[in-house]
Parts: sequence; structure tokens; C-alpha cells
Amino acid sequence: MKKTSTRDFIQKKGAEKIAVLTAYDAIFARLADDAGVDAILVGDSVGNTFMGHASTIPVRLEDMFHHVAMAARAKPKAMLIADLPFAVCHYSFDRLLDACAEFIRLGADAVKIEGGASLAEKLSRLANAGIPVMAHIGLMPQQLMKTGGYRTFAKTPEERRALVADAKTLERAGAFSIVIEKADPLAAKEATESVSIPTIGIGSGPHCDGQVLVSTDVLGLGDWIPAFAKKYADLRGESMRAFSGFVSEVKSGKFPE
Ligand code: KIV
Repeated sequence: MKKTSTRDFIQKKGAEKIAVLTAYDAIFARLADDAGVDAILVGDSVGNTFMGHASTIPVRLEDMFHHVAMAARAKPKAMLIADLPFAVCHYSFDRLLDACAEFIRLGADAVKIEGGASLAEKLSRLANAGIPVMAHIGLMPQQLMKTGGYRTFAKTPEERRALVADAKTLERAGAFSIVIEKADPLAAKEATESVSIPTIGIGSGPHCDGQVLVSTDVLGLGDWIPAFAKKYADLRGESMRAFSGFVSEVKSGKFPE
């Protein structure tokens, strides 16, 4: 199987549904790749899934460089997308370009940026510099301190119009794809139908061109998953069984034999 390019990714719109999972290191990236995902997102969700933070906000650029480098060592066939952490998209353009270029040097194929039409100019300059950008609209976890909590977006006609307008502006600016997080399903459908690049939904219903989930939710590794996610395994239960089996066999002298 050949490496998925940005062009291949775009061409999937309307031809097949796109499957994306998060991964933050080589072992998970390899598993996701072998399972056949179209893209692997090294999300800043690493903050709350692996780093022990309560949200994605404390995640620093250096943390993301570290995790992107680990995931890149799996040499996935899937596109490897690096998430820009909190506030980096508001750096001066030169610093932003430098951060994105470093992701590419580390092995990422694209970057993801949370933000709507207000980022269009920077996004367009990044695209001109040769950096493929996936945009991210709807719920933006990096805005949590401002918005004060998680909720469904684009339920009102004004928010719905804004979501669709953002999607169109970001496509015009040169985004190759758009994540739509926790938006009303009909608004996500309208946004999807308004652009010719693939939309990737998370908690936004079935009408997007693809779906992304956080791998620890899919694997059942955490102690909580959002209502829109789906647990395909119970790795927390399995891990507890294995770890406590080890503890009890060491204590009882059964291991090592
Ligand atoms: O950080 C992340 O994992 C994400 C996805 C939830 C889209 O941004």
C-alpha cells in the first residue's frame, strides 16, 4: 500500500468514508495504520488522554514535537497530521510557520489548526508555503476557558450560518480538510455539502465525509468517554486484569516460576 497523499485524501470525498484515529506514539500509530485508517491525528488530546491534564490547554509545542516524532517513527502509510496546541496559531506568522515546518521536518504530512474564518489569512500563507492544513471548527477545546464548557455548536440559525461560512472560507483559504467537532448534525451536513474538501466529524452526526475518534475512547482505556464516542474494546478492564494478575503472582511467589 502506498502512502496516502493530501490529494488521495481529498479524492475520498464522495467516494468512500474517511476513518481517522488519534495516536501519540509509535506503537499506537502502527496499530492504527495496520488497522487501515486514512489518517492518524497526533492530537493535543494527548494532554487529557496520556499526560494527565484536565484539558488540552496545558499542552505545549515541545510536547507535540515529542509526540509527533514518536508517531512518525511508525512510518505510517496513513497521513500523519500534527495538531497545533493552544495559542500557537496566534503567534506571529514567522513563528507559526517555523512551528509547522518543524512538524513537517519531524515526519508529519500536515498540521491541524483549531479556528474559524479569522485564521483564513494565516492558513492561506501556510498553504502557500507548502504546509497542508486541516482546519477545525464547531467545538474548539482550546477555547474552553473562553466558552466555559463543552456544548453542541450550530444549533441556532446564526451559528449554523457561521459554521457553513467558516467552512467555505477555510476551503477558499486552502485547507485540504476540515474537522467539525460537536456541531448539530444538520449544520455539519450543510457545511459538508457546501465544500469540495472532506469534512471529518467528531460528535457531529453521520453526514460528514469521515469520522475521527480519540484512540483511548475507542479502546476503552480511560475511565470515561464522551457520549458521542464508541468503545470498541475494554482495554482498561483487560489491563487491570493483567496488572493485578502480575501483582498477585509476585506477592504469592507464583511468578517467576
Ligand atoms: O486533539 C484531538 O484529538 C482532536 C480531535 C478530537 C479532533 O482535535
